[in-house]
Amino acid sequence: MGPKKLKTFISFFLCFCIGIFHKSEAELQVGFYQYSCGLAEFIVKQEVSKAFSKDFGVAAGLVRMHFHDCFARGCDGSVLLDSTPSNTAEKDAPTNNPSLRGFEVIDNAKARIESVCKGVVSCADILAFAARDSVEITGGLGYDVPAGRRDGRVSLQSEALANLPPPTFNVTQLTRAFANKGLNQEEMVTLSGAHTLGRSHCTSITDRLYNFSTTSKQDPNLDPIYAAQLKQQCPRSPNPNLVVPMDPPSPSLSDGSYYRGVLSKRGLFTSDQTLLTSPQTLAQVIQNAQNEFIWKMKFADAMVKMGKIGVLSGKNGEIRANCRRINS
Ligand code: HEM
Ligand SMILES: *[C@@H]1O[C@H](CO)[C@@H](O)[C@H](O)[C@H]1NC(C)=O
Ligand SMILES: *[C@@H]1O[C@H](CO)[C@@H](O)[C@H](O)[C@H]1NC(C)=O
Repeated sequence: MGPKKLKTFISFFLCFCIGIFHKSEAELQVGFYQYSCGLAEFIVKQEVSKAFSKDFGVAAGLVRMHFHDCFARGCDGSVLLDSTPSNTAEKDAPTNNPSLRGFEVIDNAKARIESVCKGVVSCADILAFAARDSVEITGGLGYDVPAGRRDGRVSLQSEALANLPPPTFNVTQLTRAFANKGLNQEEMVTLSGAHTLGRSHCTSITDRLYNFSTTSKQDPNLDPIYAAQLKQQCPRSPNPNLVVPMDPPSPSLSDGSYYRGVLSKRGLFTSDQTLLTSPQTLAQVIQNAQNEFIWKMKFADAMVKMGKIGVLSGKNGEIRANCRRINS
């Protein structure tokens, strides 16, 4: 091989290596901890199931927590960080505090994992696994979670406020908020099906019940019989602790009844009911209501895609020792 050929060969070889290296840095992998901490996913599953047996609501909490992590600064565990004297963290934004729940499940899983493999498994991955286990334990489809996320060192209340859609959003605003995160409209409709689980605080719906618009005190898009029931559970000046189920027929089952509720004007939020107002999203709602299995498959795929938003990998970020604090 002459010097020129050798040079070409070396540069080809370099490009190839950089290509591979780059790929392994940027992409998450199923079974990422297979050799470094083979018990990690199992421990998370055990902790989720232990917590779920005491309180079904933790499953809803963990699915929502993963969403809130991913939409504010990517799925980097930023939602898990506590505020400090000099910083108000995501978890203390009004959209998260006091409603977000399940933090202790992550803490318990992290403590057990640290005791068997110290400094290996990120909090962001633990949350992604826990969300998957929560979907599965409530009757959704299990799915493989590509892992290898690393934990961020920044968590800002302002970013939770700016990135998480409020329950007052209409279909145009929702579609834009999800598009900003690389998720299309169909995925937005699919992921909204998470509202088949859990509860809402009354404070999120009082405007729909009592103070909707200048022309109508009660939202005309809400079934009046359902509205009357909700008003009994959520009086006009609500105690901020009062809650109502998101999908009353089956609050701890991942099923299609959320979409059937929306079709019968029983979506709890404007952001649920608005899915009937565009022909494309209406068609999705109908399909999901009719074929629960299709929705479950699409939901699993959409969760995997959501779980890749803005992740840190390779040498970026860190593996936190405690999910509530950055490493010092
Ligand atoms: C489409 C835009 C969305 C809006 C506007 C929205 C808004 C909300 C609001 C206001 C609550 C009630 C919180 C409370 O007061 O306790 C809630 C609960 C919930 N959300 Fe969403 N959400 C959206 C999308 C999602 C997505 C994509 C997921 C997950 C994939 C999700 C999962 C949940 C779950 C599981 C609950 C129940 C939480 C619990 O019981 O602790 N939401 N959402
Ligand atoms: C959605 O809300 C935005 C902002 O309030 C408004 O400009 C838009 O017209 C609304 N779109 C629909 C379809 O109602
Ligand atoms: C009713 O809604 C208006 C407009 O959104 C708001 O300014 C007002 O404070 C609300 N009133 C109550 C009692 O919540």
